[in-house]
Amino acid sequence: MKRNMIAGNWKMNMLRHEASELTQNIISGVAALTHDIDILLAPPYTSLDIVRELLNNTEIKLAAQDVFWEDRGAYTGEISPAMLIDAGCEWTIIGHSERRGILGETDSVVRKKIKASLEDGLNVIVCVGETLEQREEGKTIQIVTSQVESALKDLELNDMASFVIAYEPIWAIGTGKNATPEEAEHVHATIREITGNIFGQDSELIRIIYGGSVNVDNIEELINMDNIDGALIGGAGLNADSFVSIVKIAGE
Ligand code: 13P
Repeated sequence: MKRNMIAGNWKMNMLRHEASELTQNIISGVAALTHDIDILLAPPYTSLDIVRELLNNTEIKLAAQDVFWEDRGAYTGEISPAMLIDAGCEWTIIGHSERRGILGETDSVVRKKIKASLEDGLNVIVCVGETLEQREEGKTIQIVTSQVESALKDLELNDMASFVIAYEPIWAIGTGKNATPEEAEHVHATIREITGNIFGQDSELIRIIYGGSVNVDNIEELINMDNIDGALIGGAGLNADSFVSIVKIAGE
């Protein structure tokens, strides 16, 4: 059975004491709910240990926001899949548009990171999405298709549930604008078709989640779409009440 997923990407926010407080409030908020949903928190590296400790004995999973593709060696500043697993992460985000855009991460770098993570047993959320300019030029499907095909190239996927694709239109991230549920569904259905062509029927178990200004007011309509299996939350995930409300609505 495929479970919907709600993941909070904290980006470069939260000092350790803030991360601790937010995590505790999320844990107690979620504990009061009955839900059947995977919940992930992706704090910055500097708070992974603190959040890990708080999440012990809960069902909430820990995720990193990025990873490197080698296991060890002379790569100053980088963190390997093995190190993330050692720090208690089960998941990592890869290829977020902020990394692609600000740090110049290419499709081939994204592919190396996916491969290295899965090989080490770290589950992956890979992000794809078009810019506003690309959308206005009518290139959304073309761009997303090429990002997804590149991410999946030569990939051996033994466990479809360990691989999540997040569609995050760049123009909707942190802007308060979001794709209409129909616009998002159209792209998700295209992604579903690509994964189906590559992995066959089992690929139904790959979750395709939506990100970009998701909040308590729009989650319900989004999650009700056939091919939207959850959400990757930025800003609204920095507030425990709104994150917990999103989990509640998505999990009902
Ligand atoms: P916002 O929810 O702040 O738009 O961020 C979305 C995002 O980038 C999640 O990874």
